[in-house]
Amino acid sequence: ETVEWEAASYDMGGHDTFMHKEISEQPDAVDRVLRGRIDDRFSTVHLGGLNLDPREARTIRRIKILGCGTSYHAGLIGAGLIESLARIPADAEPASEFRYRNPVVDPDTLYIAVSQSGETYDVLAAVQELKRKGARVLGVVNVVGSAIAREADGGVYVHAGPEVCVVSTKCFTNTVTAFALLALHLGRIRDLSVTDGKRIIEGLRKLPAQIEEILKGEDEIKRLAEVYAGAQSMMFIGRVRGYPVALEASLKLKEISYIHAEAYPASELKHGPLALIEPALPTVAIVPDDDLLEKNRAALEEIKARSGRILAVAHQPQEKADHTIVVPKNEDELDPILMGIPLQLFAYHTALAMGRDIDKPRNLAKSVTVE
Ligand code: AGP
Repeated sequence: ETVEWEAASYDMGGHDTFMHKEISEQPDAVDRVLRGRIDDRFSTVHLGGLNLDPREARTIRRIKILGCGTSYHAGLIGAGLIESLARIPADAEPASEFRYRNPVVDPDTLYIAVSQSGETYDVLAAVQELKRKGARVLGVVNVVGSAIAREADGGVYVHAGPEVCVVSTKCFTNTVTAFALLALHLGRIRDLSVTDGKRIIEGLRKLPAQIEEILKGEDEIKRLAEVYAGAQSMMFIGRVRGYPVALEASLKLKEISYIHAEAYPASELKHGPLALIEPALPTVAIVPDDDLLEKNRAALEEIKARSGRILAVAHQPQEKADHTIVVPKNEDELDPILMGIPLQLFAYHTALAMGRDIDKPRNLAKSVTVE
């Protein structure tokens, strides 16, 4: 059983769909999640509702992030941010899996529940089970006062504003940004230097304008979507930070276009999925300009050698790709926030070209509040 939102009760503000409206709102939404939280004096951020004093923060040995669907993908990027900025071992797992495997609940682990609605039953049930066992659970939640926000010991509100479209877009971007804030906060309590703190803050401040720049490329992305809209199936690849971006982009495409899409770490291609590559299976590759650039380029070569078509999302045009969507560069750690955005538009325009009902994808509802 699912609960549907009253889409008609919200204004589309001149857009044809809520999805388009919500994609377009991202510069303002990201501005909101940052507002009032940056502390330039100590090169850190203040998170009022976290409820975790610095002494406690220093004793955390591990972080486990739980969410479903898009929120799980945002959690995967969040885990990477926490590991790189705060150097605390962190991972993410679908809450729906976690709650059924009788997990070992460790007193030195901080648990973080991620949810747009704050009502997803699998996440709520995981939180309740954790609380019952005495764990400390924080929430990274969009809807203020929602069930998960109330159950959590503290947390970070995502401030994306109401998200009406069944598929999550702006909330994903804001959730990842909220994780960047949390990672910076934890990092500066632990070993992240003032210089690195400043570097991340400068990167965060650039995000709204860079998102604006990406959105200006919509006409070109629409053209590319029309080129690929005939595909029966698509492969999405990325490495380390880029892999959750690939997962999320493939989920977006399947949710609204119903094109079959798979996401793989680029490094895993040679362990099996390479067998699928042929001209009829295009690949979308996340290729940031970071220390893994050459590795990613090698994967593009492997695909090209099998006559696979490639659409790259990169910081510079990729020679082996048939098409590249060039996105602005930020700090390596923050690049995933930006690289997902053109692929939201790509999924949108692919679905539009196929005549899909974008705001009401078949078989799905906004919040899944029961088992
Ligand atoms: C996103 O596009 C989805 N429709 C879905 O995966 C969603 O992210 C998931 O159900 C979790 O919802 P929540 O964030 O409200 O908990």
